[in-house]
Amino acid sequence: MSVDVLVGTQWGDEGKGKITDILAANTSLVVRYQGGNNAGHTVVVGNDTFKLHLIPSGILYPNVCCIIGNGVVINPAFLLEEMAILKKKGITITPQKLKISSTAHVILPFHLNLDSAEETDRKQKKIGTTGKGIGPTYTDKISRNGIRILDLLSKKTLRKKIVNRNWDNLISKSLDQEKIIEEYYQYGQRLKPFIIDTSLYINTAIDQNQNILLEGAQGTMLDIDHGTYPFVTSSNCTSGGACTGAGIGPNKINNVIGIAKAYLTRVGEGPFPTEQNNKIGQHLIEKGAEYGTTTGRQRRCGWLDTLMLRYAARINGLTEICLTKLDVLDQLQTIKICNQYQTADGRIINELPLDLEVFKTCTPIYEEIPGWEQNISQITQYADLPNNAKKYVQYISKLVDVKISLISVGSKRKQTIHLLKT
Ligand code: GDP
Ligand code: IMO
Ligand code: MG
Repeated sequence: MSVDVLVGTQWGDEGKGKITDILAANTSLVVRYQGGNNAGHTVVVGNDTFKLHLIPSGILYPNVCCIIGNGVVINPAFLLEEMAILKKKGITITPQKLKISSTAHVILPFHLNLDSAEETDRKQKKIGTTGKGIGPTYTDKISRNGIRILDLLSKKTLRKKIVNRNWDNLISKSLDQEKIIEEYYQYGQRLKPFIIDTSLYINTAIDQNQNILLEGAQGTMLDIDHGTYPFVTSSNCTSGGACTGAGIGPNKINNVIGIAKAYLTRVGEGPFPTEQNNKIGQHLIEKGAEYGTTTGRQRRCGWLDTLMLRYAARINGLTEICLTKLDVLDQLQTIKICNQYQTADGRIINELPLDLEVFKTCTPIYEEIPGWEQNISQITQYADLPNNAKKYVQYISKLVDVKISLISVGSKRKQTIHLLKT
């Protein structure tokens, strides 16, 4: 049995959904521990594409139980809609298959309004949020004004919490409180069969030696503590967040699996030293279909940054890396890896600077690797990869000092190379 955490090592969209789906085949429980429907995790099975936002990416297996942990923020209307969409695609979500933490916080209409109002206020300094109300909901949680899933089950409690809120904020005032109370109470009634003490459930499964996978959303560089603040999301996407967001002890975790794209992307604002605002970037956008799963925005693309991967390895305690989208580099004659930065004052640095003012002026120093210039998307054995592709993979592993356990060469399940466990 194993309790593993899966985390994004970059700015999100590393292919966590695909890898979660692959690993879930040998798992009993898949647990989301932070974020909300800002996430967009794509799983492709045969000719079907599933875009999952709140529901864990293990949901496509009949015998896998999925959990939305206490660290997640839930928009109940969105969750019910996501369940309905899955049902239409033949995936019926029963209370045996999905369990929702009673203490997860709820995204309410005024959080959505605040999210967009705050972005407008930021003028030139926009974060480029997904507009799903994530930041304001976590703000309410931390300031102890939040409304939790269990509050939806009592109209009296819900009314007390909504009416007693500080309504000084004009955006909130303009919303019909009674309508919200009635609507959210009804959501609570519909979700009631799914609501449990998920920490108790997960720990019982651990005691029964089941295989458990904790699925992170977003990525290390979007983490509220360790990311490129303030251009981050409002939760702990890193492995530490898995303990608080699922209600398990750190001593229960066996492996921390980092998902790394073979190049780098970012949606939203903020500095990106290896960004390629040129033909290379355009090629990566097109070949990698780099458009946001949640907002449809075009993703910014650039070369792989191993300072970032080393940082992610340290912050998360990575025990292995799954390298995704290697096939996207197929046609390139030369591939660049950034392993050092030059700061504005001329220093050469090997570690990611924490000060964003320094980070944003860093110039990447690249090493050039010859490309393999052939289609690798049908290769399923490591031995069959072209030599230059093997060299690229091994070089990344060496620079980051973490073993690579899986290589993904396409969005489908079978487009996956499992490396032998050492
Ligand atoms: P997540 O947020 O980390 O789950 O990633 P997204 O689903 O938002 O974005 C990853 C995109 O790349 C999705 O469209 C996947 O279907 C696709 N994808 C995943 N792995 C691979 C791969 O190895 N090669 C290619 N070409 N596409 C992939
Ligand atoms: P997955 O799980 C990529 C980005 C937004 C914005 C910042 C803050 O699919 O990898 P928020 O709405 O969270 O307050 O936005 O974080 N962001 C993501 N970028 N993938 C995601 O999720 C993201 N979730 C949020 O674009 O820059
Ligand atoms: Mg995504």
